Amino acid sequence: MTSGLEGKHIILTGFMGSGKSAVGALLAAEMGRRLIDVDNIVVGIAGMSIPRIFKDLGELHFRELETRALHEIFSEATPGSLVVATGGGTVVRAENRAILKENGIVIFLEVETGEVIRRVGADEGRPLLAGGDKLEKVKKMLAERDPLYRDCHFSLDTTGLDPQEVVGELKKLLQQKGA
Ligand code: S3P
Repeated sequence: MTSGLEGKHIILTGFMGSGKSAVGALLAAEMGRRLIDVDNIVVGIAGMSIPRIFKDLGELHFRELETRALHEIFSEATPGSLVVATGGGTVVRAENRAILKENGIVIFLEVETGEVIRRVGADEGRPLLAGGDKLEKVKKMLAERDPLYRDCHFSLDTTGLDPQEVVGELKKLLQQKGA
């Protein structure tokens, strides 16, 4: 990895099932950095699971906790020491997008609708996809969020790639961009 990356956290965004956590874990291990998963920090702050936060406190409260988690993560970490896997909706708040871009290189892991369904279709741990017509929900949310994900430094299409392959592509991309 090029030296320009020193001092910059690497921040992965993208829809549920885009592989942020799996790719983040591999990338962190390869780069000798610490992986921080925003969802885990939120769960730690709230002292309850994500489905429970949504059910008992609501999405708005969850979004407040996400912003709080970002402040905690970046205020405590040495610059350039982290790979951060965000939640799929972290980018929904403009405030969060600004925090992410201020604190690192923001990379959008793109994924197609069909791949999302294949990867997370049977998983009931994601309250925003629970129940009803998952395909329609994913299509609608992906379309709404696409411009928000594109508010990033660069993007990578992960469709058809396993996490190790995504890491390989990411490293090439970072080098090409001179990041
Ligand atoms: C969400 C994505 C989830 C989690 C929560 C809300 C979203 O994270 O933060 O269920 O709004 O897209 P993952 O992308 O890690 O599943």
